[in-house]
Amino acid sequence: MQNVDVLLGLQWGDEGKGKLVDILSPAYDIIARFQGGPNAGHTLIFNGKKHVLHTIPSGIFRDTIINLIGNGVVIDPLVLINEIKNIEQQGIEVKNRLLISKRAHLILPSHRWLDAASEALKGKNKIGSTLKGIGPAYMDKTGRNGLRIGDIELPDFQDKFNQLYQKHLQLLKYYNWTEINENQIKEWFESIEYLKQLQLVDGEHYLNSAINQGKKILAEGAQGTLLDIDFGTYPFVTSSNTITAGACTGLGVSPNKIGNVIGIFKAYCTRVGSGPFPTELHDDIGEKIRQTGKEFGSTTGRPRRTGWLDLPALKYAIQINGVQELIMMKADVLSNLDTIKICTHYHYQNQVIDHLPYNLNDNTVSPIYQELKGWQKDISQCKTKRQLPKALLKYIDFIQETTGVKISYLSVGPDREQIIKLN
Ligand code: GDP
Ligand code: IMO
Ligand code: MG
Repeated sequence: MQNVDVLLGLQWGDEGKGKLVDILSPAYDIIARFQGGPNAGHTLIFNGKKHVLHTIPSGIFRDTIINLIGNGVVIDPLVLINEIKNIEQQGIEVKNRLLISKRAHLILPSHRWLDAASEALKGKNKIGSTLKGIGPAYMDKTGRNGLRIGDIELPDFQDKFNQLYQKHLQLLKYYNWTEINENQIKEWFESIEYLKQLQLVDGEHYLNSAINQGKKILAEGAQGTLLDIDFGTYPFVTSSNTITAGACTGLGVSPNKIGNVIGIFKAYCTRVGSGPFPTELHDDIGEKIRQTGKEFGSTTGRPRRTGWLDLPALKYAIQINGVQELIMMKADVLSNLDTIKICTHYHYQNQVIDHLPYNLNDNTVSPIYQELKGWQKDISQCKTKRQLPKALLKYIDFIQETTGVKISYLSVGPDREQIIKLN
């Protein structure tokens, strides 16, 4: 039974995953996050209201759906609790429909300090981390020092914490980091008490028995393929596997349970934080896209870098993830441009290539563009494919032909209602 579909980002994050998971979720019984943590910011807009989720899966606003935070996620209890309280304040019941895998790892306040200290030491070579403690928490996980959600119920939790915290204090000394805030530790322990009231489960057992009962699961990716720890633009990446394979390890479901892989991308590219970005725009058009697309981080508020769509990178992401269905977001943002460029190949070491080379960091890649006609029409109120301008349909066809994958939906605005079924 291939009951687990995966929806994930094919670029550098912020493709609009939250919006699409919310739209697709009525077709599923369970929505499950499988990696990342509070570095994510997933935006949902409906009934005139905006919601940004960091740790909670984007199915939480649909009242029949179970939302599971999988073992591959790193959880900052303070962030999670704020999220829960915010949603509850809107009269929405959360605790009955939120499950947390006991195997998920905890982010300590000292992970955040270590994140900041590491970035400060890197200086101008910094990753541009969201400073949520993601990298240090995953380092402790793979270094076999981490604390897991299930540990909070054990009698020796305080000892385990002390051991790890002392290690962190030593490391912080190495970094000459002096901003140690014991108050944050106190608040963190209060939030651990609150966590104990939540439904902590063996996520892998829960999901596999749900699969056996014929239930449908949607795995919700965070970040994007080009931020993947193995296949992204290393070292300017996040610390988890953001790709389809990450859904298996981050939830405990086997590869033969994976069904449809839905890849989501913007009609252009954005990136927040440092690292290579071959099609980046440093001109008025880049600024126009930033302003029209409101390209400012959902988690940190930082302005996002903007650029043209990069097809070699998109094809790479499709391949690594096994994408069977594409969804294109934010097409409305490109309206009213005379021409739209789309990168089809790169110049690289005196060659023309159409794939992503090993090293993008040395600026030796320069994009080769095809120019397509823009559309001078507001498409944000369009409801059907027939209402869309011809130039946009050509843009869509060009992407489908180059990638060999169909675009099933087109998003034309941030609201839940602004979505058009294409295929
Ligand atoms: P995620 O991290 O992939 O869930 O994406 P984010 O929520 O961080 O960023 C996507 C941003 O684009 C949010 O502010 C959304 O409200 C907005 N958005 C999503 N789809 C569209 C669209 O089709 N058009 C426009 N103009 N905005 C969109
Ligand atoms: P969603 O799920 C966009 C970026 C950071 C930084 C790099 C490493 O909303 O798409 P980290 O805090 O993980 O150590 O940062 O990854 N980054 C994201 N960029 N969207 C995200 O999540 C991101 N999560 C991390 O800006 O460049
Ligand atoms: Mg985001």
